[in-house]
Amino acid sequence: MAETAKGSRHPQRNRLAILISGRGSNLQSIIDAIADRRLDATIAAVVSNRSEAPGLARARAAGLDAIALDPHAFRDRDAFDRALVDELRARDVSLVCLAGFMRLVGAPLLDAFPNRILNIHPSLLPAFPGLDAQRQALAHGVRVSGATVHLVTSDLDAGPIIIQAAVPVLDADTVDTLSARILDQEHRIYPEAIRILLDEAWSIEGRRFVRHARLD
Ligand code: GRF
Repeated sequence: MAETAKGSRHPQRNRLAILISGRGSNLQSIIDAIADRRLDATIAAVVSNRSEAPGLARARAAGLDAIALDPHAFRDRDAFDRALVDELRARDVSLVCLAGFMRLVGAPLLDAFPNRILNIHPSLLPAFPGLDAQRQALAHGVRVSGATVHLVTSDLDAGPIIIQAAVPVLDADTVDTLSARILDQEHRIYPEAIRILLDEAWSIEGRRFVRHARLD
């Protein structure tokens, strides 16, 4: 059955949480898109599972509510996820954006935000899911790779695809040069995918993300 989300009619539709573990360059691209008015949204929280993540400092520098949640402080993964959900609910978050968040998302978070969790992955999924996607692409010898923004489901890197962008893979590429080329595209498509989710009408049909007409 198709499920339709009329995003812009939700009272708190545009309150984002950005979940990070590292440098936070995708977080920065979302901050910039909001500042440039390419994206009508508020970042209600930035959460990291690593207190030393450079992205947390980036968030604080931008005046955002930046929270470190240490997984070791919780009994198990579900307890961590429940605490995370509590933090997000306390801030009226309506959309969760994983941006280099190096943890599997468990049932408590998935159930709290059905079809409202996004992830960005540095390959053209379904090719090269999981860790080290750029290294996987080079090792496989593909001529084209890229980036994917998708909805998060219980299957790793396998949810409905919202946007993809392709880049060439060059003979001389290293993991670093390919990653940089892909990252440029990540920074372009992640804010755009969030805008689509918030501002457009869409549905999930089978495993497809289907865009409909604009609501405004
Ligand atoms: C990006 O390549 C993203 O696709 C992957 O992790 C990296 C995060 O980079 N999931 P950053 O922390 O946003 O700079």
